[in-house]
Amino acid sequence: MLSTIPTVVMATKSDIGNVKRMMQYGAVSSILKPFSLEQLILRLEKILAYQFQIQVKEKERADTEHSLLISGMASLANALEARDQYTLGHSERVGAIISGLVTLSGGTEEEIARSLIGGKLHDIGKIGIRDDVLLKPAKLTLAEFEHIKQHPAMGANILKSIPRIADILPIVECHHAAVPAIA
Ligand SMILES: [Fe+2]
Repeated sequence: MLSTIPTVVMATKSDIGNVKRMMQYGAVSSILKPFSLEQLILRLEKILAYQFQIQVKEKERADTEHSLLISGMASLANALEARDQYTLGHSERVGAIISGLVTLSGGTEEEIARSLIGGKLHDIGKIGIRDDVLLKPAKLTLAEFEHIKQHPAMGANILKSIPRIADILPIVECHHAAVPAIA
């Protein structure tokens, strides 16, 4: 990550040509000799404050983008549940339950948020399930059951194209997976 380290060029007046060239190559500032330690510290403080501001803004932008993405996906999940009255509110409840369990288990804020989102989106793959199977009021045939069993993989397929939420893929993909018996 060398490119993220701010570079300050220290030079003499006769090196102005080189200083300009280094600024073109990405140096963030220059300071001409002779300079005092106080001047150098002041310059570095200004650079670090500026870099910090950039990072804060970038984090705010990324957080907003992430929230919009999650809202969009949650809307998609709600649209799915509106199609399937039987599971209306199911994803919200699953999100609340598993994030509650993670909280009780002493999970970090990040793990709690991840489990909440994962719960809300866990059945997103049902978008790919045919209406005649998803909404069938009677018992499913073997072939229909095989079709609906594909929804975790379909969900993972939908979400894997969004790198920002890659960390919830296992929740979506494995939410019907059998837990191995403890010997
Ligand atoms: Fe499911």
